[in-house]
Amino acid sequence: MANILVVDDDRNIRRMLATALEGAGYVVTEAAGAAQALARLGAAPAIDLVVTDVRMENMDGMRLLEQIKQTRPALPVIIMTAYGSIPAAVEAMRLGAYDYLPKPFSAQQIRQTVARALEIVSLKQENRALKSRLERMAGIDRFLASSPQTAALLEVAAKAAASDATVLLTGESGTGKSLLARHIHQLSPRRSGPFVSVACTTLSEHLLESELFGHVRGAFTGAIKDKPGRLEAAEGGTVFLDEIGDLSLALQAKLLRFLQDKTFERVGGSETLHIDARIIAATNQDLEQLVREKRLREDLYYRINVIELRLPPLRARPAEIPVLAASFVEAAAATHGKKALEMTPEALAALTAYSWPGNIRELRNVIERAVVLSRGEKITVNDLPDRILAHPQAAGPRNLTLEQMERRHIEFVLEQAMTLEEAAEMLGINVATLWRKRRRYGLE
Ligand SMILES: Nc1ncnc2c1ncn2[C@@H]1O[C@H](COP(=O)(O)OP(=O)(O)OP(=O)(O)O)[C@@H](O)[C@H]1O
Ligand SMILES: [Mg+2]
Repeated sequence: MANILVVDDDRNIRRMLATALEGAGYVVTEAAGAAQALARLGAAPAIDLVVTDVRMENMDGMRLLEQIKQTRPALPVIIMTAYGSIPAAVEAMRLGAYDYLPKPFSAQQIRQTVARALEIVSLKQENRALKSRLERMAGIDRFLASSPQTAALLEVAAKAAASDATVLLTGESGTGKSLLARHIHQLSPRRSGPFVSVACTTLSEHLLESELFGHVRGAFTGAIKDKPGRLEAAEGGTVFLDEIGDLSLALQAKLLRFLQDKTFERVGGSETLHIDARIIAATNQDLEQLVREKRLREDLYYRINVIELRLPPLRARPAEIPVLAASFVEAAAATHGKKALEMTPEALAALTAYSWPGNIRELRNVIERAVVLSRGEKITVNDLPDRILAHPQAAGPRNLTLEQMERRHIEFVLEQAMTLEEAAEMLGINVATLWRKRRRYGLE
């Protein structure tokens, strides 16, 4: 329940207000003057709303209002004015009062005014929270291109988006193929249509066929009614065929036909359906190799490969790491309710030197972990996983203090050894010393 501060130098009015508000379930604190009120506002638990008289000894309600607006601009303040003193009410509103109540007023009136003010404030808060979440989500989804190489790639993607041409996205896992597919859809004239993503890996051939093309009732055991496929769901939009290299030869034939004339039949069906959808495909495999091995139809390969966009591995574009890292830090901090965090130059150097086998996805995970682990205002090398620091070029000794080196080495040995005794022996120190160092470096 909300905490309400009632300020009035007249004890009877304070009591009347407190009784009325407590009766409605609020927690009420009374203050006999502005000084007491300000003291209470600086203490816990936080006050959610203030009701104050205008004319009091020492400091008047207007001055109190001004002071409150300086320190807590969003705190609603309701001003009580003497009957008929409109100028005072106007002045109060100008100074940022939420509302005013002309005296005398009933318990009912004060309750209503307070309830309305609290409701509006909480709606505003909710609104702000939702807005920042939306912004964050949009920010996470943004495809960042901070090197000339990736900017050029994005330019081609934008041109491809304007057409209906089939796009093939290639690149190692975690290089941003799925994100770029979505981005292309959003840049395309089909952006208001659906974006339907189908993973060609996860399902068995038959399930995938029915998933993609749909089926009719009785097509197979368990097909108890007609079911439209994902292609139909993509009408007017984009179909993203992820891991296209995993498609079986039979499905390749069916897909080829769809790519040629946009027609297909549901599994077990005789009616030919026509769908208007744009195709984007992605793979982390070498499709030419698959063609040579006869695992991918050559004609399908040429159909898909109208415009190929190659996403380079992250290790080939280390210059992008600082911008990506900063964006991921911001997103993770927001997700985990942390303040803006900075990264130390050493930590950034380590990130830049690492080879990132998991590419941007791995970078993102490492940063999220670091944001969660970090204690201070900066992300340091201590917040990064060992594998990144253990990398030969990573934050080499030149970037580390002796202490950091020691900590890292002890951590490494503790992971290898089965017992503390063994670790101490490996390190060439006695157990008591290891014990101490372990505690000092927070490695227990
Ligand atoms: N250029 C970029 N800017 C911002 N974030 C990116 C960028 N590229 C990738 N990411 C982020 O990295 C993560 C991995 O990207 P994504 O899932 O698109 O990779 P993928 O190539 O589709 O991987 P997989 O082959 O495993 O499906 C996602 O969280 C994505 O948002
Ligand atoms: Mg993907």
